[in-house]
Amino acid sequence: MNRAIIPGSFDPITLGHLDIIERSSRIFDEITVCVLVNPDKKTLFSIKEREKLIIKSISTIENCGKIVVDSHTGLLIDYMNQKNINIIIKGLRAFSDFEYEIQMAFLNNKMAPNIETFFLMTTENLSYISSSSIKQIVKFGGKISGLVPSNIEQDIIRKILE
Ligand code: PNS
Repeated sequence: MNRAIIPGSFDPITLGHLDIIERSSRIFDEITVCVLVNPDKKTLFSIKEREKLIIKSISTIENCGKIVVDSHTGLLIDYMNQKNINIIIKGLRAFSDFEYEIQMAFLNNKMAPNIETFFLMTTENLSYISSSSIKQIVKFGGKISGLVPSNIEQDIIRKILE
């Protein structure tokens, strides 16, 4: 079976993430969306809250039966080796993502040579969305419709404003 993982902070999941998940689910037999810890980022949503938002978001996509949602607090490669997954999928929005992502891809491949990273370009009209901008917009009273999955919009606003 052709399996891949989409790792990330997902704090919270955006329409950009959902686009990558949906397109990957058309290519692979099984996709694991895994919430991991990025020590460089201060997060707002707990890991469990992030998982719940992902589960709710993917329920709207056609191939949701192929998608597993999980979390892990250690190294991504350790999780992948435990689960027998050897392909990482990362979305690229711009050149600015590339430098960071290529470093991660090289490091993961150096630590686990059986693991490869595939990059998917984010759909153009979603390429400007980031989780941090979502939090900022809500905090200052702006609207996030069209930026996050519509069925989790209110959950996100409630959490940010609580
Ligand atoms: O959405 P993000 O913040 O760009 O995702 C980055 C993430 C969470 C995938 C990355 O930080 C990660 O893999 N964290 C787990 C620890 C790890 O394996 N780090 C890679 C070696 S430096």
